Amino acid sequence: MLELTREIQRLKQERNAVILAHNYQLEEVQKVADYVGDSFYLSKLAANSQQDVIVFCGVRFMAETAKIVSPTKTVLLPEKDAGCPLAEMITAEGLRILKSEHPGVPVVCYINSSAEVKAESDICCTSANAVKIVASLPDRKVIFVPDENLGDYVAKQVPDKELILWKGHCVTHAKVQPKDVHQVRELYPTAKILIHPECNPAVAALADFVGSTSEIIRYAQLSEESTFVIGTEMGVVCTLKETLPSKHFFLLHPGLICPNMKKTRLESIYRALNDQQYEIHVESEYALRAQITLQKMLEVV
Ligand code: LMR
Repeated sequence: MLELTREIQRLKQERNAVILAHNYQLEEVQKVADYVGDSFYLSKLAANSQQDVIVFCGVRFMAETAKIVSPTKTVLLPEKDAGCPLAEMITAEGLRILKSEHPGVPVVCYINSSAEVKAESDICCTSANAVKIVASLPDRKVIFVPDENLGDYVAKQVPDKELILWKGHCVTHAKVQPKDVHQVRELYPTAKILIHPECNPAVAALADFVGSTSEIIRYAQLSEESTFVIGTEMGVVCTLKETLPSKHFFLLHPGLICPNMKKTRLESIYRALNDQQYEIHVESEYALRAQITLQKMLEVV
């Protein structure tokens, strides 16, 4: 492993590359990365990156986003089959039909969507800025796609808006049920329960705090409490245990493991750098429109 890490560092210099890793990546991947964070933070880094090559340790829509905001760079996704079932729950055609049913209503798309869906949308958001983005729009009615749970959470934060939602969900977060929260409350009565808004609303309603991965991490850092139950992908628990060793963290549900995020290993990063694979290309037909959608998000927050 040490040998592989050294080889990755060597190739990274040779290729003038930067390694970005999402909070849900394996610990070994997070450790070798130059930057670790949520998709908002990583997309800002990609947009401003000085290196020639961006190795994106995450899932396809994230690498695609990096390519859209940094079109002159070579963007590599180390595991070509690392997809996102939530992003695949909506197509551009489906969105066009929804738009035709609500003419003139602006579309906010969650970053967990394809480049083609982004091109059909007015502005993008991530879970860290979804409330702010929706609130920034002058319109009362807003189409929000594709995560219904996140949309429901946003709607509750901006009650003056009417959100038209799409029936998509993250298959990993959707595993958590209210009974799981009741169980951990009994098991760890003094713990704070921090939950991601991609969980279903009945689960989020039982949380002490609802927030994106970066907000959950910040909450745990700033809190005086010492025990937390984390209701998002287990990669966040690894980060928290590593960075806050005096505090205690438990995973809300054993199924909170994203199989796609866990595909990337040190070997994948080595191969990505060595063989320049798998290079991301975004069809020029919608790359520019998707870039505008992303750029608008970067300007609001
Ligand atoms: C993101 O990276 O924005 C989400 O997929 C997860 C989160 O809340 O950070």
